[in-house]
Amino acid sequence: MPRRVLTPERELEREEGEDSPLDLGSLEQIVAERYASAGDLIPVLQRAQGHYGYLPDEVVSEIARLTGVPASRVYGVVTFYAQFSTVPSGRHKVCVCQGTACHVRGGHGVLRAVESELGMKSGTTSDDLEYTLETVACLGACSLAPVMTVDGQYFGKLTGGKVTVALEQIGGDGDGSDED
Ligand code: FES
Repeated sequence: MPRRVLTPERELEREEGEDSPLDLGSLEQIVAERYASAGDLIPVLQRAQGHYGYLPDEVVSEIARLTGVPASRVYGVVTFYAQFSTVPSGRHKVCVCQGTACHVRGGHGVLRAVESELGMKSGTTSDDLEYTLETVACLGACSLAPVMTVDGQYFGKLTGGKVTVALEQIGGDGDGSDED
């Protein structure tokens, strides 16, 4: 499926991003507002990731400089917590549940179908920054297993065919959560 095609809008964003170094100026304010002691590193990182979308090297280094926390420690926190990412996320986020309830109802097959549809592996972002594909331990909808979310929208009782339909709704408005 030809899903890895850049839209003109994304192409423009990417070109602009390539030509523009990150503006690190906002970090000074983020640190001033959020950082009082070493225990405040996580809120600072959360706010920085919310601002930049991810935590690239230059952002981590600047946070280390502004807080006085050794960069190795800041990197340690970033890499320890799954909520932080050092690579940009795709515009669309697909989460496939691999928890117990989903696993016993074919969750692994769903993951394989999604990987095949998107042409990418779990834990990666497509080259065109359109998709990020992740697995999670439970999406809190075990009665609908196997389950995945696309941009936060739930799709349950999935089969290979339903995966295709769900992914085709990216950018659409169907909810798919009550389909059988
Ligand atoms: S195990 Fe998949 S939603 Fe709970």
